[in-house]
Amino acid sequence: MQDAADVAARLGATGYLADDELATVLFLTMRMQRPLLLEGEPGTGKTALAEALAETLDLPLIRLQCYEGIDATQALYDWDFPRQILHLRALEAAGAEGTVEETEKSLYDDRFLLSRPVLAALQQSPAVLLIDEVDRADDEFEAFLLEVLSTRQVTIPELGTVSAATPPYVVLTSNRTRGAARCAQAALPLPLDRPPRSRPRGGDRPVPRARGGRVARAPGRRCGAAAARTATTCSSRRALRRPSTGRVP
Ligand SMILES: Nc1ncnc2c1ncn2[C@@H]1O[C@H](COP(=O)(O)OP(=O)(O)OP(=O)(O)O)[C@@H](O)[C@H]1O
Ligand SMILES: [Mg+2]
Repeated sequence: MQDAADVAARLGATGYLADDELATVLFLTMRMQRPLLLEGEPGTGKTALAEALAETLDLPLIRLQCYEGIDATQALYDWDFPRQILHLRALEAAGAEGTVEETEKSLYDDRFLLSRPVLAALQQSPAVLLIDEVDRADDEFEAFLLEVLSTRQVTIPELGTVSAATPPYVVLTSNRTRGAARCAQAALPLPLDRPPRSRPRGGDRPVPRARGGRVARAPGRRCGAAAARTATTCSSRRALRRPSTGRVP
């Protein structure tokens, strides 16, 4: 994408209403290859922005939903234990000959690896990785996550290191139940709190009116009453100190 106006226009084409500030911060995160941290109340368009970004870039959206107690296994990978057992039984039944080491090695094969969202995003990159509600996870998990995102690689002892050829676009969201301070330092933060005050720069498609003069559903899968209610006018004071311009009242 060439500039913030281009970002806004492309998001607008998917039905996501982005104003100048949102488009500028998103453009910068893409250029700087930094994660974007969206902070705001429920319904302010955090998840929808990640979906719109993936649609705009025509990339897969991979989502990690955080919760209290989440740990690295849920973010990275696990081994498919039942299938490993079946594999062992099959080896036994076939009377396969081999050393214990060979048998063990055959158990830790790609076939039995269950990639969780963060590893999947590195494997499938370029992709959009949405880490939703990161504030629900604890500090330790947040630190681990940021470490993986900064190195863009994961080491699996039995298999080796997986690195992303192209870094994924990372969108973190927070409802501010907790500070998510580490993320706020590592990412460009973008508060999505205020009610809409403007039409987006890229939102040049008119909202259709029903016959009785009532506003009908706007084009695009995210437009309509909810979109109109929550269309984002974001304050990016902490990310960028620039006056908001180009607003249409
Ligand atoms: N700027 C926007 N443009 C278009 N639609 C929007 C916008 N903001 C919000 N919406 C719409 O509002 C609804 C709620 O948005 P979304 O689910 O992304 O909120 P959220 O911030 O992720 O909420 P939660 O914290 O509960 O997960 C969705 O239907 C979404 O499409
Ligand atoms: Mg959400």
